[in-house]
Amino acid sequence: MTKADPKKFHIKSFGCQMNVYDGERMSEMLVDQGMTAAENSEAADLVVLNTCHIREKAVDKVYSDIGRLRRKDGSSPMIAVAGCVAQAEGKEISRRAPSVDIVVGPQAYHRLPELMETAKSGKKALDTDMPAISKFDILPTRGKQARPTAFLTVQEGCDKFCTYCVVPYTRGAEISRPWSDLVDEAKALVDGGAREITLLGQNVNAWSGEDEKGNMQGLDGLIRALDRIPGLKRIRYMTSHPNDMTDGLVAAHGDVGSLMPFLHLPVQSGSDRILKAMNRSHSVRSYLTILEQMRAVRPDIALSGDFIVGFPGETDQDFEETLQIVRDANYSQAFSFKYSPRPGTPASGMDDQIAPEVMDERLQRLQALLNEQQYAFNQQTVGRTTDILLERQGKLDGQLIGKTPWLQSLHIISPDLKIGDMVEVEIARAGPNSLTGEIKERMAA
Ligand code: 5AD
Ligand code: SF4
Repeated sequence: MTKADPKKFHIKSFGCQMNVYDGERMSEMLVDQGMTAAENSEAADLVVLNTCHIREKAVDKVYSDIGRLRRKDGSSPMIAVAGCVAQAEGKEISRRAPSVDIVVGPQAYHRLPELMETAKSGKKALDTDMPAISKFDILPTRGKQARPTAFLTVQEGCDKFCTYCVVPYTRGAEISRPWSDLVDEAKALVDGGAREITLLGQNVNAWSGEDEKGNMQGLDGLIRALDRIPGLKRIRYMTSHPNDMTDGLVAAHGDVGSLMPFLHLPVQSGSDRILKAMNRSHSVRSYLTILEQMRAVRPDIALSGDFIVGFPGETDQDFEETLQIVRDANYSQAFSFKYSPRPGTPASGMDDQIAPEVMDERLQRLQALLNEQQYAFNQQTVGRTTDILLERQGKLDGQLIGKTPWLQSLHIISPDLKIGDMVEVEIARAGPNSLTGEIKERMAA
């Protein structure tokens, strides 16, 4: 059956910030093609589900979401499944969910318009290639739809092969985007109104490339170059791997004014035995040493992390060691997950898979400790005067929500301010998940 030419699209991104970035790029490309963004999937005639494959639940959710796109009259919009589930499952998706028209992997989404042509003629369209020509060379230039905070993917893929993780299979090998492309993209974002840029990569601190003079640079060199862009007030980066944390990057936290005091550095487990089985190639000691170095140059740095509980073979003792590293490291926020066996990864075939009820109990204990640390961190910032970049409207009249340098959400009420403003506030109150501030003064643009 042929499908009408779609005019309005809706993109739903799941999972990590890399997917949010890809979603933004797809959106810019579709707008460039003359389409408009719909408020929600009901109002759209093209729905893109930009999926995540990192845990099993995420995959199940995609199939239930596809089911829910069917309209009351039995019709459905043109449906594209993008992202890592598309890459991993390929043709299987339209076999299992026949209403799916397009399956497109994370390295091929610049071909979405061509795939839509195929779908219009009633055929299933599939592209999960990882082509040599980068999608970044083909996508339209940025900046037109820039918001105060923007993402910029600098690095993709992963060569680390942690034994639980699908990323090296779905996102492919580590590649760094070229220096000049990144500097140009950052300038276009700032010209379009971005004041904060978050550099993204599965292993963002593994980024390397030649600068305009032909000198090899690491992420710290790139950050120093972006710091010179007038109008760019804040730089962040995520996600980092402990083994790629260079002295240069640590030093940059001490002397680059626009580099925010926040570090997302996953450790996954506090047991050296489990870290080895995970193939993390760092130890508890080496992780804590990085934190010591970081805190020596930037004592107020806020630390975030990722944890997995219930990795195969994890004993009570191993788990106690995870609680211990949390106490030693002290997090301002963190993500924690139950281990989820992913097909094709080495850990999925390991002996001693952990019972679900044991994982539940461990996750609860870990999250209770992490929540306690987050609340304590928030409380400890009360009384500080700091700058806030306002990002979105709050629920109350005149309420705006922004982020502190330490990536905490902060609410203020001020009818004469608007999104994109940077203001100086005093942190007045702290809750477990957010802060309330009072305006000190408005900062120069
Ligand atoms: N099961 C549970 N959590 C996982 N992660 C990655 N793979 C798995 C898995 N198989 C978590 C890690 C990673 C984050 C993005 O997702 O903590 O850092
Ligand atoms: Fe996955 Fe490990 Fe690579 Fe992170 S470093 S993307 S957890 S394989």
